[in-house]
Amino acid sequence: MMGLPVFRASFDQLEHSVRTGSPAIELAAADGIWPYLMGHPDEAKIFGHAMTGKAAADTAAVLGAYDFGRFDTISDIGGGRGHLLRAVLDMAPSAEGILFDLPDVIQTLDVGRDRLTARAGAFFVDPLPTADAYILMEVIHDWPDAEAAAILTAVRRAASPGARVLIIENVLDDMSPDPRGHTLDIIMLACTGGRERTGTQLDGLLKAAGFRDSTVINTGGPLRIVEAVAAGRAD
Ligand SMILES: C[S@@+](CC[C@H](N)C(=O)[O-])C[C@H]1O[C@@H](n2cnc3c(N)ncnc32)[C@H](O)[C@@H]1O
Repeated sequence: MMGLPVFRASFDQLEHSVRTGSPAIELAAADGIWPYLMGHPDEAKIFGHAMTGKAAADTAAVLGAYDFGRFDTISDIGGGRGHLLRAVLDMAPSAEGILFDLPDVIQTLDVGRDRLTARAGAFFVDPLPTADAYILMEVIHDWPDAEAAAILTAVRRAASPGARVLIIENVLDDMSPDPRGHTLDIIMLACTGGRERTGTQLDGLLKAAGFRDSTVINTGGPLRIVEAVAAGRAD
């Protein structure tokens, strides 16, 4: 995936990001990575398999750190090919799963599994599914603050009373350096316009979107889970 010309071009043009703060990918793909992938299905397929591959390295740690079995309905927003949600449903035998991603991603999938449905849509415009828990794995870090806030607000709008949102990504420490996280931060800057964030920064976004009581949960792997509760309604 990193060798695809569109990604290589983003790193070749990193100086553009350093000077302007804008994603260098816009020099190679003016509308950004997601519309680019929609127009290039072969590259989108490579991207989708790369996401499945990188998630395979993280899934066991995530499943070991969090009890998904207490939820009736779990929606994975921007869940790609459904790799994490399938593993979550294996651990939560009474839960229903709803995978939400862009139409071009959903239409390439053969969902073919009990308790799993797929819903096509775009989180900035379409209503999200109703669920007790929302997974956002390596989705919030793809976006600048305004868009990240809009995604969380869309989740809050759809959330059932007491629902949990679970941001699963590389959460930076406020104080200690994190070589993997800071490298990803540069990759996000160049390729998506997003960024890695600290738990405090994510808490600020969550509160503004109507979530409370955010907690950072270590997984034993490089990713951490930031859990928060939909505020203003009964648990
Ligand atoms: C970095 S990938 C993460 C995939 C998966 N959650 C994982 O961690 O393996 C980001 C996902 O967000 C999806 N996405 C991007 N823009 C979206 C939008 N406007 N609405 C819904 N999904 C979107 C992409 O198609 C992609 O599957």
